[in-house]
Amino acid sequence: MEFKSVVIATAMLFSGSVMAEAAVSGHDVLPRPTKVEVKQGELKVDKPFKIVRKVGGKGAPSSYKMIVGKRGVDIVAPDSVGLFYAEQTLQQLQELAGADGELAFQVIEDTPRFPHRGVMFDVSRHFRSIDFLKKQLDAMAALKLNVMHLHLTDGAGWRMEVDGYPRLTEYAAWRPQRRWADWVAGGAKYCDRNQQGAYGGYYTKQELRDLVKYAAERHITVIPEIEMPGHSDEVVAAYPEISCTGKGGDVCPGKEATFKFLESVLDQTMEIFPSGLIHIGGDEAAKGEWHNCPDCIKRMKDEGLKDVDELQSYLIKRIERYVNAHGRNIIGWDEILDGGVAPNATVMSWRGTQAGVRSLNEGHDVIMTPVGCCYIDYAQDAPFREPESIGGYTPLRKVYDYEPLEPGIDPEKASHLKGIQANLWVERVTEDSHAEYMYYPRVYAIAEIGWSTPEKNYDDFHRRALVYNGIMKSKGYNVFNLADEYGERPEYKTPLEHQARGAKVIYATPYSKKYSANGDTSLTDGALGGWSHGDGRWQGWTTDVDLTVDLGKIMPVHYAGASFMHSEGAWIQLPEHVTISVSTDGVTFKEVARIANDVDPTYPKIMVKNYGAPVSGEARFVRFQAKQNPRPGAWLFIDELVVN
Ligand code: ACM
Ligand code: ZN
Repeated sequence: MEFKSVVIATAMLFSGSVMAEAAVSGHDVLPRPTKVEVKQGELKVDKPFKIVRKVGGKGAPSSYKMIVGKRGVDIVAPDSVGLFYAEQTLQQLQELAGADGELAFQVIEDTPRFPHRGVMFDVSRHFRSIDFLKKQLDAMAALKLNVMHLHLTDGAGWRMEVDGYPRLTEYAAWRPQRRWADWVAGGAKYCDRNQQGAYGGYYTKQELRDLVKYAAERHITVIPEIEMPGHSDEVVAAYPEISCTGKGGDVCPGKEATFKFLESVLDQTMEIFPSGLIHIGGDEAAKGEWHNCPDCIKRMKDEGLKDVDELQSYLIKRIERYVNAHGRNIIGWDEILDGGVAPNATVMSWRGTQAGVRSLNEGHDVIMTPVGCCYIDYAQDAPFREPESIGGYTPLRKVYDYEPLEPGIDPEKASHLKGIQANLWVERVTEDSHAEYMYYPRVYAIAEIGWSTPEKNYDDFHRRALVYNGIMKSKGYNVFNLADEYGERPEYKTPLEHQARGAKVIYATPYSKKYSANGDTSLTDGALGGWSHGDGRWQGWTTDVDLTVDLGKIMPVHYAGASFMHSEGAWIQLPEHVTISVSTDGVTFKEVARIANDVDPTYPKIMVKNYGAPVSGEARFVRFQAKQNPRPGAWLFIDELVVN
């Protein structure tokens, strides 16, 4: 009922003719069908109607055609997957119509754009129950998503039962602290599962087989990820003999025991998961211990490997041969390109899209999941209103606007672009309800990019997402309240006029190359930063900051100030204090204000704090000196130096 009234209200906006537009059509469906033709007439859903399903015709795999007419609904699809997706569309049309609504007479022809439409679940940082995962599979199926990527192993906990290696699940799956940040602060230790208060868990083989079956019934493939050689702190803690020194989070590629372990784990993984692709991680290995480990050094010498990147590549290629020999292929994060890519590997491009484009042009299959658009651990709304997050700002629109088929991709190789995926890392997402909140509605955008043709119309998508949020809520999902979205930082939206705009900035302390924003003109360009420190408007330092604005001539000055960002998850801290001083000659400065920080460095959300003060008198030079927060690795971020 609720949905029906939303649909009518929306229809009124467009046409003013409630009755004619009230009937629901494929134009209201998410993800948007390829082709919808609305005809004269409506089918009332409160009376029984006939549904005829036929496998046949010569449509593309997984496609379907649905005709809604006087006689009821006719569905034809070339395969059972297409029939299943038609069923999802029909189900959604009925949900949108409500119990006593109407379906427009219509013809829908619908074909998926990409074969991989995925969502990643990080069950290492926080263990989630099989019931939780099944609930998400239900949501995915309704959105025509077809890959559940299960991040089963990582430093925060091992999650799969493995015969022969009991300490993975008796020890490496448990930790004393529940919150990830508390666990890290406590030294990132593991504990016995029987210890009082042990937090964690693992899946038995039977539970995983059951999950795979549940997914398959919904035409969803579960791709398991076994991380190697990095992100393996829990493995090394349980079995130090497969590390270089017993310390560090990487396994040792110099030792045969490592390969025995990995092959045994992969054997058992492939027994449980029938997926064609087996994810072997490959990201962010520190490789630090490898330089000094006698086994690693010997391996490099024996195999003629010139550096530790090639040593990682040796491991990945050797594992690829093993997986290939068992009739499967590997998929890995884009670091598997470093030191030479494994020949049959699928690349999951996450550090931007360049690695993906390069791999595509070399003929590799690629899944696009760039951090700036597809990482939904970033905040989706104004951070002060959001739960704690890792940092960044990726609202629904940013996900939606992403187009994976970039101009740099050779058209001849475009068929290797297999699809896209949303990744939710859950370091800071403790609760199941928080995870759902992060997934939905952003996963709708992933579904639409993966399924629908590439034309963009955010207003239309937003209209459908709002209504679909209602359907999700009625089914018990904790979705982000899109109707109440606050949006980007207001200061970001309008250029700021001020007296220092266009003035030269003298950098006594150079900004980081990585966070250079617009270079030397950035801090006086009137363009203020948004909620994301990576939006190209924030400049970053890993040192104290000493900047002087040269106004060009002596003039009256009433105010000076600068905004700094705090984003604990991104290691960005507010300065301890900021000193503002003025000068007429650039040599002798008079201190006019010293502003101290009053924000707790562990405050878990992103915020922007203005360090500003009234000034009286005349000046040509205004100097800002910011004292770095003493926390190790702390960055300072500034978007503009404002003088009036
Ligand atoms: C990753 O985000 N480290 C794949
Ligand atoms: Zn080693």
